[in-house]
Amino acid sequence: MKNVPTYGIIGYPLSHSLSPVMHNAAFEALGVEAIYKTFPLQDDEVEVFFENLRREDSPIFGLNVTVPYKEKVIPYLDTLAPFAKRAMAVNTVVISQDRKLTGYNTDGPGFLAHLTELKFDPRGKRVAILGAGGTTRAILTVLGLIPEKPEFIKIYNRTISTVEGLIRDLEQRVDMSNVEIVSSIEDLDIELADLLINTTSVGLNPRDPLLVPEEMLHSNLLVYDVIYNPAQTLLLKTAKKMGAKTANGLEMLFYQGVLAFQHWANVQLDADVKNKMRQSLREAIQNG
Ligand SMILES: NC(=O)c1ccc[n+]([C@@H]2O[C@H](COP(=O)([O-])OP(=O)(O)OC[C@H]3O[C@@H](n4cnc5c(N)ncnc54)[C@H](OP(=O)(O)O)[C@@H]3O)[C@@H](O)[C@H]2O)c1
Repeated sequence: MKNVPTYGIIGYPLSHSLSPVMHNAAFEALGVEAIYKTFPLQDDEVEVFFENLRREDSPIFGLNVTVPYKEKVIPYLDTLAPFAKRAMAVNTVVISQDRKLTGYNTDGPGFLAHLTELKFDPRGKRVAILGAGGTTRAILTVLGLIPEKPEFIKIYNRTISTVEGLIRDLEQRVDMSNVEIVSSIEDLDIELADLLINTTSVGLNPRDPLLVPEEMLHSNLLVYDVIYNPAQTLLLKTAKKMGAKTANGLEMLFYQGVLAFQHWANVQLDADVKNKMRQSLREAIQNG
């Protein structure tokens, strides 16, 4: 039986991943015979999975990588693209015909693409970030590398040692001179901020609490929640009520997916294909 060129996502758990919907929509729109699958892997299965990718008869030519493996996969790759090398996190792997593996990170560029679409220019802005996981790593890297640097970025995380470790690591490769770790949500100075980004998983569950006191949210603020399902977290609902502009993470997911696909295919996708990818995501969210 002929092997269909295969792409997919590795991580755990993957049951809620929207990446298959988006990438299979792109294959269909392009009329390409290929398939995108989920590969839920346990920690001790990752090494063998990567060993098998080296086999000449492997049908896999591209991967996305998600929690908890964005850093773990790096030793298994041959090359890291410049942005992934700065972030030291990989969410996209390209596998060449001769089975060489190159790692990219499209989360940071995907976030920036959405900010641009929202016409938010980070230059000179005051940014507050909640959370210090993989998403913050990608966002801080992109904000530290672009010329349009924020005036400052204040960052709060429930576990202070995690945020300290993240900044210590990133500052070896990225300008973190405008980043300040704060020890309480109050010290984020959201009242004075232009952009508040939630990268914590708080809000995924509709019963999750609001981490930010309501009165801190205001009409000069863009509140960006990287969560996309539910589309309106309590944070976004409250921010809207307080007159803030709001955005969820669906477009970030879309842009990181487009950029990943373009790395695999080595072509730019046209507007029609991108619209089909975006539409597939919106429908998947609506249909639950
Ligand atoms: N839109 C997109 O394209 C996109 C891309 C990637 C991820 N995401 C979403 O972003 C979110 C985070 O993903 P990630 O990869 O960054 O995850 P991660 O690396 O696991 O980090 C999770 C973060 O959430 C914090 N957190 C978890 N539970 C908390 C609680 N009860 N109270 C306060 N803080 C809490 C953690 O703090 P501690 O350090 O204290 O544990 C940590 O800072 C997820 O919802 C994911 O779906 C969206």
